[in-house]
Amino acid sequence: MVNQTRLICAASELLDGGKGVRFSVLREDKTLPAFVVRYGGGVHAYLNQCAHISVELDWTEGEFFESSGLYLMCTTHGATYEPDTGFCVSGPCKGRRLMALAVGERDGNVYLTDEEINHG
Ligand code: FES
Repeated sequence: MVNQTRLICAASELLDGGKGVRFSVLREDKTLPAFVVRYGGGVHAYLNQCAHISVELDWTEGEFFESSGLYLMCTTHGATYEPDTGFCVSGPCKGRRLMALAVGERDGNVYLTDEEINHG
């Protein structure tokens, strides 16, 4: 197993507090849903799994922010998370976290920087 960098999307697709981009990651031989958003000027990515129950956060594809654009929200029971840390500030999983993924921006694109590639 080696880690590589993989293109997720153009940086211009992510507006601060706006719609996120869904993608998938390979973790321990499983393909898992993930997403990336922009907040505070930076890009932040997480597995698309609520810390309460392992369901995807977005009811409407790519809509991860609640109406103020300040927090990510799980549409199932309304848990809210800090977009830049993944820390749950309210809801049934308060005090837990989303699983963060390493992403970065370069040359106008957003990359996953720790993609697992399974050569087995
Ligand atoms: S499944 Fe997300 S808050 Fe319950």
